[in-house]
Amino acid sequence: MKTESLAVINCSQLVTLAGPERPRAGAEMRDLAIIRDGAMFAREGWIVQTGARSEIEKLIGSDCEVIDAGNRVVMPGFVDAHTHPVFAGNRADEFEMRAAGKSYQQIAEAGGGIKSTVRKTRAASEDELFEASKRYREWFLRTGTTTIEAKSGYGLTLEDELKMLRVIHRLDAETALRYVPTFLGAHTVPDEFKDNRAAYVDLIVNEMIPQVAREGLAQFCDVFCERGAFDVDESRRILMAAKSHGLKLRVHADQLSLSGGSELAAELGAVTADHLEHAGETQISALKSASVQPALLPASVLLIGSQRYPNARAMIEAGLAVVLATDFNPGSSPTPSMLFVLTLASTQMKMSPAEAISAATINAAYSLGLGDQIGSLEAGKRADFVIHDCEDYREPGYFAGIEHPVAVYTGGRLV
Ligand code: NIG
Ligand code: FE
Repeated sequence: MKTESLAVINCSQLVTLAGPERPRAGAEMRDLAIIRDGAMFAREGWIVQTGARSEIEKLIGSDCEVIDAGNRVVMPGFVDAHTHPVFAGNRADEFEMRAAGKSYQQIAEAGGGIKSTVRKTRAASEDELFEASKRYREWFLRTGTTTIEAKSGYGLTLEDELKMLRVIHRLDAETALRYVPTFLGAHTVPDEFKDNRAAYVDLIVNEMIPQVAREGLAQFCDVFCERGAFDVDESRRILMAAKSHGLKLRVHADQLSLSGGSELAAELGAVTADHLEHAGETQISALKSASVQPALLPASVLLIGSQRYPNARAMIEAGLAVVLATDFNPGSSPTPSMLFVLTLASTQMKMSPAEAISAATINAAYSLGLGDQIGSLEAGKRADFVIHDCEDYREPGYFAGIEHPVAVYTGGRLV
């Protein structure tokens, strides 16, 4: 039975991230609007008020469920704005090959990489994919993430892409984790089109995008703009078609080389440009001129064994509303943990713990078009929050490699 109202008391720090109703840029990213000895009151899954414990305790009636946070940190659930969470099989063999000295690109060029997951995902039924993906859903929730963006892109036929997107919808409908679907038919050119790339782009533009849009299966369209995947002209055709069908845009840009992806994201008004390991001053100013949010994925850098992280400091100094995400996928980034990403953001990209938390919550929420509902703990937003087993908001990134969440709530319900 659902309790109507809920109070969370005894929070050493209630990390609210309350602030202006837009993504946070520059110095704003360092202001988490923390309430010490804070408390929160929610009704029917929505936050009604946050404040000092003494204020909130006055609202507690006899029917109210009271959660004692035990003098721990309470913060919004993480919003992971870049994931590939639906796939069959895994690529532990490639993990071992990289340990033996092969690079991510060499493995991909030899027919492994994305294509190897495509083969397995095509062979799986919709139910099998759904079952496999439920396991990862648990991992996201356990590490304190309550909303994820979820891409297709391991089907690469009309039917298999639709299958992936339907699985994402089922996961969203039947589970506590919220999924925001993105169509990524342009993840790589499948083998059957390798001598006729233009025909695959035609298929995406003329068949896949119209059908995905017609069935309302995705909110965003993404393209892997990279040497070996899709060049700028191909990417532009695909993204323009998506835009004309009402999809919003995200771009995998400047990951393995300077691909032109950042400039394209700016030209087309994409919401995010993601990766950006190779982006420099020119790319950063292009993103700034079009208010594109950079989505940085440091786990994918570390886990392919690279040392080339995106220049987060330059992006923050330029006034960009930086987002952090896991890039969870079976190849380049097999981790669902935003906690791990916080650690990497501070140690490898020199983001302060506060900047990293803003990037992992409120800024990510805005990048998904959900800034008015999630990403901060404020009146009128969903009661998606996590009790972390620590007293200070810096500890989740600092004490590395352990799971801090002791309780995760979505819409005011314990997961
Ligand atoms: O974001 N860059 C392209 N796509 C993924 C990799 C997916 C895979 O290796 O399966 C990424 O890193
Ligand atoms: Fe990705």
